[in-house]
Amino acid sequence: MKFKTLFAASVAFAVAGTSLAHAEPQAEVLHWWTSGGEARSVAVLQKEFASRGGKWTDMPVAGGGGDAAMTALRARVLAGNAPTAVQLKGPAIQEWYEEGVLANISSVAKAQGWADVLPASIAGHMKCEGKWCAAPVNVHRIDWIWANAAVLAKNGISMPTSWDEFNAAAAKLQAAGITPLAHGGQAWQDATVFEAVALGIGGPKFFQKAFVELDQATLKSNTMVKVFDQMRIMRGFVDNNFSGRDWNLATAMVMNGEAAFQIMGDWAKGEFLAAGKRPGIDFLCASTPGDGFLYNVDSFAMFAVDGSDKTDGQLLLAELIVGKNFQKVFNMNKGSIPARVDVALDDFDPCAHTSAQDMATSNAGGSLLPSYAHGMALRGAQAGAITDVVTAHFNSDMSSADAVEMLATAVTNSM
Ligand code: BGC
Repeated sequence: MKFKTLFAASVAFAVAGTSLAHAEPQAEVLHWWTSGGEARSVAVLQKEFASRGGKWTDMPVAGGGGDAAMTALRARVLAGNAPTAVQLKGPAIQEWYEEGVLANISSVAKAQGWADVLPASIAGHMKCEGKWCAAPVNVHRIDWIWANAAVLAKNGISMPTSWDEFNAAAAKLQAAGITPLAHGGQAWQDATVFEAVALGIGGPKFFQKAFVELDQATLKSNTMVKVFDQMRIMRGFVDNNFSGRDWNLATAMVMNGEAAFQIMGDWAKGEFLAAGKRPGIDFLCASTPGDGFLYNVDSFAMFAVDGSDKTDGQLLLAELIVGKNFQKVFNMNKGSIPARVDVALDDFDPCAHTSAQDMATSNAGGSLLPSYAHGMALRGAQAGAITDVVTAHFNSDMSSADAVEMLATAVTNSM
């Protein structure tokens, strides 16, 4: 098998690399961390890599959610020139493994005892047929609502704890001339809001059936109709210029008080922090109404490449990524929490503490769920089919009944 040959080659290089004099470790790193908070975070890894003698070649591909980065990756792999390390996550890791193009990083994983410091659910995503093929960076939570503290206080509004409360607050803000919901009309952002609404309205079991198991009855259910009804209401709470707006510009609208709320993963917090805003004072965080926790684990997969400088670079990167210091400093900047369970959170902000506590509670209660919108729950074709319908509905006057029919059909056709 092609993968086995490549695996054998990378092990041979790794072994050779320990005994022979060789060139400095190299890594060409493809990622989509280009916003203020994201760039500040990835710089932590670049610095650590350089301090260990590594030469980093940056390949940033702008575009939140990573769709553009994934298109760039496919082009590079098809051209036979894969980058050495790629920001990749969830089932996409397995999809690339099946193409026979991933390297094996088990030597680092074993040396560092990853199995002992990563939760089993996260480790599962990082393994390909029992071998470690990716290194996890963090746990981002998706179902968050962010708010401008002063705007809420001025309008006598507290963080909503139900969707009815959200709708009432939004209507009040709109009447006061404030955009209730900062949103960027890009398919992945529509999907991000949609999955938070679906979890809130349907609950964790509904979410699992719909977006993990792709159960037809659930996709067509009355509950799903209600989810689309709420999406229609939310469409009325965004400003006129929402189309195509980048997520960080939507976050900026909340920061400067032009808008009150944003529903977005906690990389939005990284943006607030990078701008010097303080949680609980300048901005507020709360989980979106309802139970459960939608997780999104960023990770790096190493692609099979030739040359001991590159394979050394891959092993060094993997070692740093799961290293305790990186997991702490990176995640304090990025807005996420560490993937490792043994990193103390004392220096993290209150939103990160909420995230960690809710993750533990959800894990114990069976409501810790993978984000479909951020590529953790489904393969690309199925996730894409759902998102196409969500976006088509959000950007038209399609009825909720038509949307659920279209959703069920699109999912069937994508299988
Ligand atoms: C990634 C985050 C990133 C966000 C916006 C998500 O899919 O997991 O790391 O900050 O997209 O680009």
